[in-house]
Amino acid sequence: MAGQIPAQFIDDLLTRVDIVDIIDNRVPLKKAGKNLSACCPFHNEKTPSFTVSPDKQFYHCFGCGAHGTAIGFLMEYDQMSFPESVQELAEHAGMTVPVSQAVSNTPAKQSLYDLLDKVSQYFVHQLQTHPQRQVFVDYLKGRGLSAQTVEQFNIGMAPDGWDNVLKTFGGSPQAQAQLNDVGLLSSNDKGRTYDRFRNRIMFPIRDRRGRVIGFGGRVLDDSTPKYLNSPETTVFHKGSELYGLYQARKANRRLTRILIVEGYMDVIALAEQGIHNAVATLGTATTPDHLRQLLRSAPEIIFCFDGDRAGREAAWRAAENALPMLGGNHELKFMFLPDGEDPDTIVKKEGAETFNKRVDNAQSYSGYFFASLESRVDISTMDGRARLVEVAKPYLRHIPAGVYRDMLEQRLAEVAKTNMSVLNKHLDKPATKQKRRPSASSSSAVVSPVRMAITIVLQHPDLHKSVADYQKIQGLELPGISVLLRLLETLHEHPHLNTAALLERWRDDKNSAHLQRLAQQSLSLSVDGLKHELIGIVQQLQKQAIAERQSYLTNKPFGQLTDAEKEEVKSFN
Ligand code: GTP
Ligand code: MN
Repeated sequence: MAGQIPAQFIDDLLTRVDIVDIIDNRVPLKKAGKNLSACCPFHNEKTPSFTVSPDKQFYHCFGCGAHGTAIGFLMEYDQMSFPESVQELAEHAGMTVPVSQAVSNTPAKQSLYDLLDKVSQYFVHQLQTHPQRQVFVDYLKGRGLSAQTVEQFNIGMAPDGWDNVLKTFGGSPQAQAQLNDVGLLSSNDKGRTYDRFRNRIMFPIRDRRGRVIGFGGRVLDDSTPKYLNSPETTVFHKGSELYGLYQARKANRRLTRILIVEGYMDVIALAEQGIHNAVATLGTATTPDHLRQLLRSAPEIIFCFDGDRAGREAAWRAAENALPMLGGNHELKFMFLPDGEDPDTIVKKEGAETFNKRVDNAQSYSGYFFASLESRVDISTMDGRARLVEVAKPYLRHIPAGVYRDMLEQRLAEVAKTNMSVLNKHLDKPATKQKRRPSASSSSAVVSPVRMAITIVLQHPDLHKSVADYQKIQGLELPGISVLLRLLETLHEHPHLNTAALLERWRDDKNSAHLQRLAQQSLSLSVDGLKHELIGIVQQLQKQAIAERQSYLTNKPFGQLTDAEKEEVKSFN
C-alpha cells in the first residue's frame, strides 16, 4: 500500500507536519530538554517515559518500546490504516494526497462518513422536534436516562414512516445509492426501496475516532426484532467495532480498565451512573480483534456477563478468544451478575458504588479458567485429574510462551497433583519462545562501524553532506553496507529528508524494524562529534574497499584481467 502513494509526497508531508503538534493535540506534551514527554498513551504508567523528538520527528517510549513517525502514531493511536493516516496528516498540513489506486477510495469513503454523520444529526434533531417525539422521550426517561446522557451518546429517533430518510437524503440516484451503501435502506421482493430504521430509538455507532459508522435501532415496546443493526458495509465491521469505546476514551484518555458488557443500553445506563468505561460488542462474541484494540486502550479488561446460561457460554467463548492475548503487561478478568440481571438493571438497583465493588472483585482469568475446567471433571479422583490435564492441553497451547503460561502450567500441575516434569511430557510446546527484545537504548552490544554510520545518518540526515565520497564502499561485503549505501544515495538525491521521512521510505522494507531501533538509540556525542565519527567511518570503509579491490586485482592472474582492470591496476601505482 505504502508504495502507491509517491514516496516524494510522504517526504514532503513529513517535513511539513510537525509530529509535536500531531501528538500534542491528542496527548498533551511537556518540554523535557530538547525533547518533549508525556505518560505513554500505549501503556499504563505514572511517570512519563514517552518522548517525542522534534529533530527526528519521531516518538519513542522507553517503557513499552512503542515508537514511530507521525504516520505511525496515527495508525496506532487513532487506529487508522496507512493511507488514512497520510490523508489525515495531509489535511492537517493543507496538502492533497496525489490520487492513486490506494487512496482513490478514501474520498468516496469520506463521503459515506459524512452522510452517516448527517443522518445521525437528523435522528437527533427528530428527537428534539418531531411531532411524535414525546413517546420516544418518555421511553428514554422511563429507562432512567438524563438529557445529558442522551446527548453524550447522540441518541435520536427514526420517525415512523417508510421514507423519512430516503426523502431527506436520497434526492438523486447517486445519493440513494450512498444511502444503500451505508445500510440505511431495505428493499422488498418487488424491488421497492424504503427506510431500514422506522419508529425506533436510534443509537449511532461510532468508531474509535468518533466517526459514525452505523446504527442500532431499538423498538419502543416488546415487539421483535428488539434491535435492528446496520448491516456490514465498507465502513462498518461488527467484528472489530465496540460500542462506547470512543465515548470511554473521550471521557478518560488514560483508562486503567475497560468493562465489556453485552448491550448498548448497558453501556449507556452505566454512563448515566457515572461509570464511563464500559463498551459493548455489537451483538457478536468478543473477537481477538476487539481484544487487541481494548488492550491498547487499557491494561485491564473485565468481561461482564449475565449470570444465566447464555452469559456463561458467552464468557467461555470470550475466554477462548482471549488465549492468544494472555500474559504480557495486561490483565483480563471476568465478572458474573446475578441471574436475571444485566448491568443496566443492577446499576440502577444498587448504584455505582456497589457496582464498582463487584468490578473490583472480578475473578482473575486463571481463576475463571481453572474453575470452568474443573467443573467439567471430577478432580477428587485420579482419573478426573488426568482428564483435566487432557482438557486443559489444547487451551494452553494457544497461550504465548512466557511467564504467564508457565504459571498456568504450574497451577495445572498442582491441581492435577502431579509435577511439572510429568506434565511437560504431555504438554505440546511450540518450537520457539517469543523473547522480547531488550530496548534499543539499553543494548550494550559492541557496535560495528557500519551500524554506527547508519545510526548517525538516520538520526542526523543532514550530516550526509559531509560524506561526498562513498560509492566505493559498495564493494565491501559487510553486514549493513547496502543499507548504508542506500541511505546515503537516497539523501544524495533528496537532501532535505528528515529521520521520519527516511523511516517511512523503509516502511515496507525487511530492514524497517532494524532502522526504527537504530533511530531510537541514544548517541552520546555532540552533532559535531558525530559528524567526524561519520566522516571517519566512511573514509575507513572506503579505504578498506579500495584495499580489498587492489588485493583482488593483484592476486588475479594478469592474463585474466580485462583491459579496464589492467588500467585500474596501473592507477594503483
Ligand atoms: P434492552 O433490552 O433495551 O435493555 O437492551 P440491551 O442493550 O440490554 O440488549 P440485550 O442485553 O437484550 O442484548 C444485547 C445486545 O444484543 C444488544 O445491545 C444488541 O446489540 C443485540 N441484540 C439484542 N436483541 C437483538 C435483536 O433482536 N436483533 C439483533 N440484531 N441484535 C439484538
Ligand atoms: Mn438490558
